Amino acid sequence: MTSPFDREFLFVTGKGGVGKTTVSAALALAAAKKGRRVLIAMCNAKERLSHLLDVEPIGPRNQRILERIDAVNMTPAVALEEYGMMVLKVRSVYKAVFENRFVSAFLRGTPGIEAWSMLGKAYFHVEEQIDGRPRYDVVIVDGPATGHALDMLRVPQVICDIAPPGLLRTEAEKARSLFHDRRRSAAVLVTLAEDMPANETIELHAAITKDIGLEVDTLVVNSVLPKLFKSHERDAMVELPAKLAPGSALTSLARASRERALREETQRSAIKKLEEALPALPRTTFPHLFVPEFRRGAVESLAETFG
Ligand SMILES: Nc1ncnc2c1ncn2[C@@H]1O[C@H](COP(=O)(O)OP(=O)(O)OP(=O)(O)O)[C@@H](O)[C@H]1O
Ligand SMILES: [Mg+2]
Repeated sequence: MTSPFDREFLFVTGKGGVGKTTVSAALALAAAKKGRRVLIAMCNAKERLSHLLDVEPIGPRNQRILERIDAVNMTPAVALEEYGMMVLKVRSVYKAVFENRFVSAFLRGTPGIEAWSMLGKAYFHVEEQIDGRPRYDVVIVDGPATGHALDMLRVPQVICDIAPPGLLRTEAEKARSLFHDRRRSAAVLVTLAEDMPANETIELHAAITKDIGLEVDTLVVNSVLPKLFKSHERDAMVELPAKLAPGSALTSLARASRERALREETQRSAIKKLEEALPALPRTTFPHLFVPEFRRGAVESLAETFG
């Protein structure tokens, strides 16, 4: 069976707060365990990955955080400078090109240039070679939430459409070709098994595959509660609190069971909706982990799901 990280470029996205960073970290741990050299690239995020993995705070330049895993929290300013340097190699050339009054004005006026600086940097690292060998086997972008992610992924096309022939356009064209190459690139979508995130995921899947042309490798359904009740038990639990005598010692227990039964029903119908809308999309389920602190141990156990 192939794993998502058999590809060189993975773009992780989904609704805000659903577990994108957790999934990016789990993918990175699983890939590193298989011997891959990984870069996790965050997009100017409120950086919580270091807390999640118990490592030093992660700044705007690539740094080693764990064996075979580098991470960076990209910021547009540093990424643009770095990317310019990476492409142009020589600082004086970089200065001449990027700090040229006309180029600067053009860059400032180019829609999405900040997003491009980060996506372009991620793209650069996919192609980057050191001593004739790729620096990273897989670059995992811990992407922004849905709408911003789509805006970011549209930027190479926008640049191809509007930029004059030249370096910027050539680079955007190369990045666009990489993203369209389904053997090398894919998105990983993350959702919760709830109604709103499921709807958003179905729309996001359509936009990413049709508008952007990026293959979706996997849908991770995160934080799924184990099923305690069979369907007839679920119905009985929903009725239970109302059936107890007032003041019964079992009231709290019955209410907790009712809540749980309702949650399980929500989960069941969200997963059914996802299955029906996206029947061919491989799904991975991450259980909800009941842990006092959600840190590296938790992410390691989720990473095992990726084999
Ligand atoms: N499987 C899980 N079980 C239990 N808790 C989880 C699980 N997955 C994520 N969490 C909790 O949810 C929090 C949010 O997850 P995460 O930071 O990965 O979401 P995100 O989508 O990256 O959020 P944002 O949109 O803010 O970047 C985590 O810090 C963790 O406490
Ligand atoms: Mg995040």
